[in-house]
Amino acid sequence: MSFIRKSNSFIKDLLLVSRFGLLLKPFRFAFKFCYNFSMLSSWVNSNAGKVPYSDFYKPTRKYTNRVKLHEHIIKSEGLDQKPIHYLEFGVAGGTSFAWWIKANLHPESRFYGFDTFEGLPEDWHFFKKGAFSYDIPFMDDARGTFIKGLFQETVYKFLDNYSKTIDSPNVTRVIHLDADLYSSTLFALTRLAPFLRKGDILMFDEFNIPNHEFAAWNDFVRSYYIKYEVIGAVNNFYQTVVKVTESLA
Ligand SMILES: C[S@@+](CC[C@H](N)C(=O)[O-])C[C@H]1O[C@@H](n2cnc3c(N)ncnc32)[C@H](O)[C@@H]1O
Repeated sequence: MSFIRKSNSFIKDLLLVSRFGLLLKPFRFAFKFCYNFSMLSSWVNSNAGKVPYSDFYKPTRKYTNRVKLHEHIIKSEGLDQKPIHYLEFGVAGGTSFAWWIKANLHPESRFYGFDTFEGLPEDWHFFKKGAFSYDIPFMDDARGTFIKGLFQETVYKFLDNYSKTIDSPNVTRVIHLDADLYSSTLFALTRLAPFLRKGDILMFDEFNIPNHEFAAWNDFVRSYYIKYEVIGAVNNFYQTVVKVTESLA
C-alpha cells in the first residue's frame, strides 16, 4: 500500500515538474464542458420527473415563457399577497426588475437590483465583455433601489447593512440570478450563503448553460450543503426556479 502511495506521489510530482499539463491547455474548455454537461445531464435525470411546473421537453424555446414561469411562482407561493425582498443580480435595462416590482405591491416589500450598468465584466458564451450595458433604469417606486458596481465591490457592504437593518424572518426572499457568468453567479451565491434560509426562492435565467449558471449552482450546493427542491422550469430548464428546504445558516 505504502509503495502504491509513494509511486502515486512520485508520478504526480514528476508530471508537475515536467509541465506536462501545459500540453492539455488546448483541451481545457472541452474537458470542462464535458464534465459540466455530464453533471447537468445527471441533474436533469434526477429532477425532470419531480418538477411541479415544467415544459420539459419542448423542441423550441420561447424567452417569453419565463414570464409564465414567474407568474406561476408568484401564484403558487402566494407572493403577491405578502412582503418580499427581491434581490436581482444582473439588471441590465431593468425588464425583469420592473416586472417584479409591479407584480408585488405590498408596501413592506423591498427590491434591490445589482449591476455594473456597464455590461458584463467578462466574455460570456457568444457575448463580449461590456454586452448588456444600459443606463440605470428609471424607477418611480420608493421600494426599489439600484446598486451600481461590480457585485464583488458592492455586495459586501449591502449585505452588512441588510443583516443589521433590513432582514426580517417574516419576509420571503426572491433571489433572481441573471448575471449569466459562472464567476458572478458563484460570487453572489457564496455571499448570500450565510443568509439563506428555508423558503427562500432562487430563480436562474440561464440555468442550463453547463459552464455558467449551472456549474455555479452545482459547485455552490456541493460546497455549502444546501438542500432544495425545483419548483418550476421553462425552456428545457433554461429558466429554473428552486426553493431552499434546508441551509446551514
Ligand atoms: C442578461 S443581463 C440581465 C437582464 C435582466 N435581468 C433582464 O431580464 O432584463 C446580465 C447583467 O448582469 C450584469 N453582471 C454580470 N456580472 C456582473 C458582476 N459581477 N457585477 C455586476 N453586474 C454584473 C451585466 O452587467 C448585465 O447587465
